[in-house]
Amino acid sequence: MRKLMFLAVLLVPSVAFATIVGTPHDLSNATGGGSIKAAASALNEQVCVYCHVPHGAQNAEALWSRPLDTSTTITWGRSLTIRGTSLVDGAPSNATARCLSCHDGTVALGDLTGSVGVSVAMSDPQGHLTGDMLDTSAGGKYIPRTNFGRNHPVGIPYAGEAGYLGHNSGVAAVTTEGYYNHVGGVITNGAGDRIRLSEDPNTAGVYGLECATCHDPHSDVAPKFLPFDNAGSAVCLTCHNK
Ligand code: HEC
Ligand code: HEC
Ligand code: HEC
Ligand code: HEC
Repeated sequence: MRKLMFLAVLLVPSVAFATIVGTPHDLSNATGGGSIKAAASALNEQVCVYCHVPHGAQNAEALWSRPLDTSTTITWGRSLTIRGTSLVDGAPSNATARCLSCHDGTVALGDLTGSVGVSVAMSDPQGHLTGDMLDTSAGGKYIPRTNFGRNHPVGIPYAGEAGYLGHNSGVAAVTTEGYYNHVGGVITNGAGDRIRLSEDPNTAGVYGLECATCHDPHSDVAPKFLPFDNAGSAVCLTCHNK
């Protein structure tokens, strides 16, 4: 019994304070939680630096510390979703390009720009850095730009936005970028909201889905950086009335 209480005391804080430290997105050698991380102590064991710099960032958004490639196109292999929303081949939005700056398997993970401007040697014992998990099951967690059609659409408007052709839900239009909650067709913007909508790269003023809509790259509150527990497919049901 005493042992159990001791365990409970140890476990509660890790649940209550979900952060990036110790997750697969912590690439520091000291606390990095995945197999891929800095090969040795580098940059004072910083965590944020693999994605953000305080000065001299790639562009004005998110103080991004990595090469942000929006010139290489992504291809869907088809032009419409089942319900007729356009899937446009071309440059990803900055929001999706940020994730692809590691997850398309082409940019060296340790290449940092801006006020850091160094190349950190990375350790990759399982050889994931050349793999391409979502398509060829080579082991790595990578999404090739040439075959985006096998993934949930991104760069598309959210249900309820102007130009959206779906009939899945009757939610109100969203007119600003931000974090939202969507329960039972009602969309709110307040504390605790976790679905993130970003500006559609193809239509200014339209807000929709990018990678960070369904993933919070900083939080281990749920597995796979999902914004909340996906038990019963709760993440999917926030948008699809199925
Ligand atoms: C693996 C990459 C990665 C690391 C490491 C990372 N971030 Fe981020 N961060 C992102 C991405 C991607 C976004 C943009 C999310 C979006 O497009 O909605 C972001 C956005 C942010 C934002 C603005 C949005 C918000 O949620 O408030 C802040 C602040 C931020 N990060 C702080 C940090 C801090 C502090 C650290 C280190 C403790 C850190 N990040 C580490 C990827 C990362
Ligand atoms: C600095 C590089 C970097 C950036 C930027 C980055 N990731 Fe990752 N991500 C990684 C690495 C490394 C792993 C672990 C991969 C492996 O072990 O094969 C990972 C793993 C993941 C996982 C699986 C986590 C798990 O628990 O298995 C998800 C989901 C993910 N990333 C989503 C994203 C999304 C979405 C974005 C953008 C919002 C993003 N990542 C940006 C490097 C990055
Ligand atoms: C509509 C929601 C949604 C969007 C948009 C989305 N993801 Fe995911 N992603 C998920 C869910 C849910 C999982 C967990 C799947 C599972 O556990 O089987 C996941 C898993 C992953 C994984 C880990 C796969 C593994 O086997 O470990 C990576 C990496 C990832 N996503 C990256 C991305 C990137 C990069 C983007 C943008 C191009 C993106 N995701 C867009 C919902 C989404
Ligand atoms: C933030 C809202 C949102 C979330 C969360 C979400 N979806 Fe979607 N999903 C959409 C939108 C918008 C479309 C495009 C609908 C259209 O074309 O009319 C879509 C399309 C789809 C499609 C059709 C794809 C095609 O090519 O025709 C499937 C299947 C799907 N989603 C499944 C899922 C699953 C499974 C999850 C959970 C892992 C999920 N969605 C989470 C908004 C979302």
